[in-house]
Amino acid sequence: CGIVGIVGQRPVADRLVSALARLEYRGYDSAGIATLHEGELQRRRVSGKLVNLADKLRLDPIGGLVGIGHTRWATHGAPTEINAHPHATSRVAVVHNGIIENYRSLLVELAADGYLPSSQTDSEVVALMVTRWMDLGLSPVAAVQATVSRLQGAFALVFMFQGEEDLLVAARQGSPLAIGYGDGEMFIGSDALALSLFTDRVTYLEEGDWTVVTLQSASIRSRDGHAVDRLVQLSNTSSNVIEKGPYRHFMLKEIHEQPDAVSRVVGRYIDRAERTLAQSPPLSFDFATLPRMTVSACGTAYLAGLVGKYWFESLARLPLDIDVASEFRYRQPPLQPGGLAMFISQSGETADTLAALRYCASNDQHIASVVNVAESTIARESGSVFPLLCGPEIGVASTKAFTAQLTTLACLSLVAAKERGTLPDGAFEKLIDALTALPAALSQALLASDDIAEIARGISKAKDVLFLGRGALYPIALEGALKLKEISYIHAEGYAAGELKHGPIALVDDTLPVIVIAPSDELTDKTVSNMQEVRARGGQIILITDPKGAAIHGSTAAQTVILPQVHSFIAPIVASVAIQLLAYHTAAMMGADVDQPRNLAKSVTVE
Ligand code: G6P
Repeated sequence: CGIVGIVGQRPVADRLVSALARLEYRGYDSAGIATLHEGELQRRRVSGKLVNLADKLRLDPIGGLVGIGHTRWATHGAPTEINAHPHATSRVAVVHNGIIENYRSLLVELAADGYLPSSQTDSEVVALMVTRWMDLGLSPVAAVQATVSRLQGAFALVFMFQGEEDLLVAARQGSPLAIGYGDGEMFIGSDALALSLFTDRVTYLEEGDWTVVTLQSASIRSRDGHAVDRLVQLSNTSSNVIEKGPYRHFMLKEIHEQPDAVSRVVGRYIDRAERTLAQSPPLSFDFATLPRMTVSACGTAYLAGLVGKYWFESLARLPLDIDVASEFRYRQPPLQPGGLAMFISQSGETADTLAALRYCASNDQHIASVVNVAESTIARESGSVFPLLCGPEIGVASTKAFTAQLTTLACLSLVAAKERGTLPDGAFEKLIDALTALPAALSQALLASDDIAEIARGISKAKDVLFLGRGALYPIALEGALKLKEISYIHAEGYAAGELKHGPIALVDDTLPVIVIAPSDELTDKTVSNMQEVRARGGQIILITDPKGAAIHGSTAAQTVILPQVHSFIAPIVASVAIQLLAYHTAAMMGADVDQPRNLAKSVTVE
């Protein structure tokens, strides 16, 4: 999950652990480091969190000026010490992100030559292969080259070698890697954040690149072996952006950052003073002539796309197909040439989303992405990039990236509507005003936090929770259920309110909290009828609405959350704050690890 490597002039063990701590937020379940001390490989690995590794190193320190470290999110093999990285033989140690798909057949080959694994991982095969090549007389660099050419799947790999105090070798195919340039020292990391303790001068490796890093330099070669120059960039990932400040958890901090985050997005697309669209950067496609749009994403980003479908179709009359990327990529969907394929991803590295992008790129689609990490692979492979501008998101459960995604899609649907001429007179300005009012509305929504904490007390005792919503609020019901599941581990389901009677109503009894997301709009009455169906069967209704909705329907509910009165266009974004706070308070009350929920990873670079 997280990778760091140092070729240094000072001891590296503690610095490796500190750098890994920067990547903790991504989620992991074991960790380890290896260094070279007096020419010999030394390793310390643990299951569980980095504090265990720090404790182990305190009792049993290791020296050395060169080293590699890893936090692992288990794919093949349980999160035990034996399966933790670095994997090593006496000659080489390696850390790996991704999956080696052909590891079984490679292991059979290696076993025939007497090279046997000690773990259940796919990664160890890489260490064994390099060792075999070195035993056959190849140099470390040549051994890595020979090994990498045989690997299928996705990987970022960093190698360190017995007796080689001034050498790391790394390769990337499908999982990101960056080189960091220090003062007489060099670094490698899975992203700029991993390197932010040491340097802000970084180079991102391209697909298929591999690199030889020494104290003085990094030479990079492309897949075909040619030396290549890659840009050295200044990363803006400074160290102060990842402090919790006065907040108990990063998630709470990020929930509170949302008014600022959406304000930056609105400012990019809307000229508030002129009540019109701002001059937008040139697009690689033309909304006016697009036949169709296809959106692929995973998790929370997928649910943002689902809200986008309501907006693009109703406002811009642009047909939009949406699917989770893991399904889309294998379905061989026929795509009309010249369509727009859009990919939504906080990290910009999600393996399934990237694969969906590449499928669309080879099927004559314009490629656009809505991403938070501007240097990510998905951003770099897109013709048009719409950045989220919300800064690093540390909580594994996405919050500010979600509302920034929603706001970006809302703005883009307006751009599309304008270019396609699909809005009736006067509607455009009202929608512009609605978006302009969004940051203040989110600030006001945050004031409901204490009321929501009170409601969370009841939710924390529930075994199951149902979320209902209609129209563009239906995906918010899905997101409400997802957030609650992710961080409190309470089973929850989101449903389109109209589907209630087609199944989930069978679950309703007096132990089931039903959260109805129904700010006042033209569909509220219909949703309220669904609420009555729940109430008639003893279900406990929690109504998330606005002052108008509360005045008319509040009495039906056991508890009510009142959000600001806003235009129905932006209501899904405002309601997002309420479902985030509900999940947050429930999980925090239950003592859960809110920022790093069990089994989840922030950036899923394996399929
Ligand atoms: C993981 C995260 C989710 C996220 C999803 C997609 O599952 O835990 O919070 O929504 O990946 O990630 P992306 O970076 O593509 O938005």
